Amino acid sequence: MNLLGQRAPEVQERFKGDHPIVVEGLKTQFGTHVVHEDLSLTVNRGEIIGVVGGSGTGKSVLMRAIIGLQAAAAGSIDLLGRNISKDFRD
Ligand SMILES: Nc1ncnc2c1ncn2[C@@H]1O[C@H](COP(=O)(O)OP(=O)(O)OP(=O)(O)O)[C@@H](O)[C@H]1O
Ligand SMILES: [Mg+2]
Repeated sequence: MNLLGQRAPEVQERFKGDHPIVVEGLKTQFGTHVVHEDLSLTVNRGEIIGVVGGSGTGKSVLMRAIIGLQAAAAGSIDLLGRNISKDFRD
């Protein structure tokens, strides 16, 4: 089954990119508590990565930022070719 073929044409176009997730200079914080500072990460197409770190180090906050549930205080997040961090600031 070709899952890609079931998606809207504009979404298919984004999936063709070489880097579905590109994070640059990300900063996240809650009040004065800075969780991420200048975090950059590129996930290549077809790549599967794991995020390892102690409890409370920011793994879940990073995932929430990447899927658009957590605002970035600085930096950019591109998901499937769309700058989602900009959406929070507009
Ligand atoms: N909604 C929130 N409001 C305030 N602080 C938060 C919030 N969500 C997370 N934090 C804080 O951000 C930091 C990172 O939390 P996060 O949940 O990302 O850790 P984690 O690496 O996923 O930990 P675990 O391994 O326990 O799941 C922690 O200090 C946490 O207390
Ligand atoms: Mg977690």
